[in-house]
Amino acid sequence: MDDRPIGVFDSGIGGLTVLKEIMEQLPGEDIVYFGDTARIPYGTRSKETVIKYFFQSVRFLLTKDIKAIVIACNTASALAMEEAQEAFEIPLLGVIEPGAKAAVSATKNSIIGVIGTEGTINSQSYQRKIRQMLPSAEIIGIPCPLFVSIVEEGWENTDVAYLTAKKYLLELKEHNIDSLVLGCTHYPALRYTINKVLGDNVILVNPAYETAKAAKIMLKEKNLLSNKADGGKCRFYVSDNPEKFKRVGGNMLKKEIASVEKVNIES
Ligand code: SIN
Repeated sequence: MDDRPIGVFDSGIGGLTVLKEIMEQLPGEDIVYFGDTARIPYGTRSKETVIKYFFQSVRFLLTKDIKAIVIACNTASALAMEEAQEAFEIPLLGVIEPGAKAAVSATKNSIIGVIGTEGTINSQSYQRKIRQMLPSAEIIGIPCPLFVSIVEEGWENTDVAYLTAKKYLLELKEHNIDSLVLGCTHYPALRYTINKVLGDNVILVNPAYETAKAAKIMLKEKNLLSNKADGGKCRFYVSDNPEKFKRVGGNMLKKEIASVEKVNIES
């Protein structure tokens, strides 16, 4: 048993979708959340830059005496997870494997779509993981870079979102996919619009739920679960714009975020 907090990392606010699931499935755990809001988006950056930013974020989280790190950001999970596992001793869990597992459970016809940032899709991380679990799978990966800006603007249920989704996703419809991995923390916010384009026959897979489930299993296996059954507390840190994080994040979590501290992690 270990009462130290879990660190949760994201490039910004989107990782709160994963945090929410962790809070529901592990209500006794204290959490330290860091959102690199000064440098979002990660999805358009090179692997080298994502690794540099992510390593700085890990070093910051390690100053908070955490026992494990959940990487909510798909791009960092796809591009920096392996390097981080070699560089740091702390247990790390990314969203790719849990998301791939959820997609494999959801599909009936083995034709799976994956959408994410350019970094995530071009890395082939989801495609590789899904194929390991289901070798016969046909996987169609499409980068949807404009989706992050649409969600950041709060335009997820507008005509702009619908027309953009139609442009990106119609190809998936032609391939007859029956499940679609929302492989970026921002995309669950677009699920109604995506559903409008693809219809009810396509299951939208949000890796957040499976990731929280995997976090629980990992902590249990390593004997790191908290002694407390509930009452876990969450502290929030960002690299820029704490007021925006409080406002938008509070809406996403459906509860008030009382305090967010701005920190400088570049060193
Ligand atoms: C981004 O930082 O570009 C989006 C976050 C993600 O990839 O999940």
